[in-house]
Amino acid sequence: MSYVIAIDGPSGSGKGTVAKALQEKLGLINIDTGATYRCLALKVLENSVDINNEEEIIKLSENLNIKMDNEGHVYLDDEDVSLKIRSKEVTSIVSPISSIVKVRENLVKLQRELAKGNKVVVEGRDITTVVFPNAEYKIYLDATLEERVKRRVKQNKELNIDMTYDEVYESMSKRDYNDMHKEVGALKRTEDQVYIDSTNMSIDEVVNKIISLIEEV
Ligand code: DC
Repeated sequence: MSYVIAIDGPSGSGKGTVAKALQEKLGLINIDTGATYRCLALKVLENSVDINNEEEIIKLSENLNIKMDNEGHVYLDDEDVSLKIRSKEVTSIVSPISSIVKVRENLVKLQRELAKGNKVVVEGRDITTVVFPNAEYKIYLDATLEERVKRRVKQNKELNIDMTYDEVYESMSKRDYNDMHKEVGALKRTEDQVYIDSTNMSIDEVVNKIISLIEEV
């Protein structure tokens, strides 16, 4: 039987790490929807498309060839772009790109296609509300901005991305604002999500809490 665990939350809330752990523990397919927007942002940069040229960006979003494997690798046109899509440059343009309504329509289609007929954990900003509003399990994962910045600085170090605490703080607050105020697909809390504040929780605690929700049913 197929089912969807949908997880929404702001950057640095731990969605990626939690989804990966759930994938391993429960044998699920893991779909990182942020990575689909990041792949498009990378294409925009590589094709030197102006960030204000919506028409051209929409065109690029129509035929994206994206694959994800179970080790967390992301492939764009069969090239492993897992690291490239986390760069400072991609991060700085991805939120405005993901605000273009037509881009979202195209990428939501692609995300549903990636999930089709499988047991999946899908993480993003509008998964519980737009992409899979009928998901069996809906989670909103949160943490304070300070904690999320700390986590991202640590993660960046591991990926050799050179950004100071202040740079990450500024970039993340801007992205939070943008992601929560999009015309379509904004990050939102709703009554049917289970709200988890991970600020003072370990990854294992969050994962176990989600597994206990699934086992309750
Ligand atoms: O989760 P992330 O930081 O990799 O996401 C990158 C950007 O993509 C983020 O600024 C918000 C956007 N995004 C979105 O608009 N909808 C999603 N479902 C996932 C990500």
